[in-house]
Amino acid sequence: MIGSEQVKELARTHSNEVIDHRRHLHRHPELSFEEVRTAAYISAELDRLGIPHTKGRGGNGIVGVIGAGAAGKSIALRADIDALPIQEENEVEYASTRPGVMHACGHDVHTASLLGTARVLKSVEKHLEGSVKLVFQPAEEKLPGGASLMIADGVLEEAPQTKSIFGQHVHPPLEVGKIGVKAGVYMASADEIYLEIIGKGGHAALPQDFIDPIATAAQIISAVQQVISRFSDPEIPSVLSFGKIYSDGGATNIIPTRVYLEGTFRTLNEEWRREAHEHIHRIVTQIAVAMGAKSNLEIRKGYPYLLNNPELTNRFRQAACGYLGEENVVDLPIRMTAEDFAYYSHEIPACFYRLGTGTAQKGITSPVHTPTFDIDESALEIGVGLMSWIAINELSS
Ligand code: NI
Repeated sequence: MIGSEQVKELARTHSNEVIDHRRHLHRHPELSFEEVRTAAYISAELDRLGIPHTKGRGGNGIVGVIGAGAAGKSIALRADIDALPIQEENEVEYASTRPGVMHACGHDVHTASLLGTARVLKSVEKHLEGSVKLVFQPAEEKLPGGASLMIADGVLEEAPQTKSIFGQHVHPPLEVGKIGVKAGVYMASADEIYLEIIGKGGHAALPQDFIDPIATAAQIISAVQQVISRFSDPEIPSVLSFGKIYSDGGATNIIPTRVYLEGTFRTLNEEWRREAHEHIHRIVTQIAVAMGAKSNLEIRKGYPYLLNNPELTNRFRQAACGYLGEENVVDLPIRMTAEDFAYYSHEIPACFYRLGTGTAQKGITSPVHTPTFDIDESALEIGVGLMSWIAINELSS
């Protein structure tokens, strides 16, 4: 068996190369479903490493295999590769060269880290007790999510059939050197709410002659919160927030005809998710009717909740403690953001963990999805080493 000191040494040896990968990807970000050059870059690197791979998976995805044909089980390591529509404000040498597009969620870090992991594992390929699938996944940031498309494309089922999958995500609140994980339900499902309320517009001084969609919207906004406080099991976390409200006109003295609301519903239980949709539909429709208005409600289903398989996550935790030291493995709380890695977690045992990438002393604290997001690049060596170690450990377990 390969030892953790050997893995640390390999991760250190290739750390500058991984930083170069990250900076290249950061300079050339591509939006979800448009990751053509990113995929070409990954493919060229896998060619250089002599790792067989298939392209065009679930869109612009790439799947490579290390140790193909080896006896033993097969596990998968996943990195998402797409960027966000954000204008970068960092004044760094490796800043985005594409106006309005930025790797602001660290997917450049995930991709570079998986390329580094590929290099480490390839160098010890003949000692691996199974095979490792490298899943470079497109379109994490946009529905329906690249993960669902790769699953539909047979990525998990095709030989060597995948028994479990790991994914990592940058985490600025966590100091570099630490990682965080949570066994069990970890991240939320996320559904988009689009509501149109149709009243009858007219002079605001004569409300008796018209149907006020604004007053109706106010009733609905208050009432649907009861779905969370009165219908939901208090043990199941749920959030219902409206982030946008506008009308088709109106003024201080004009009642508009239409009001539009947009929001999000998030939770951690599929059965409750279905029920909650019904409650929202009923409350919205009937309040609109009671006020004399009409309503059109659409709830667009997003990603499901993310489940970290307890046994797999436990083994991950032990291996991570052995590699980084117990004091550097942090227990994380539930998080109400969503992530399409969740789709894998509903197919096979999965573990999604967080890589500490912040350094308060250097002022690297900006959250993901902001124009000033960046990482402490020393996190890359840890990300590569840990993911390699987890793979080796899981194959021999
Ligand atoms: Ni992300």
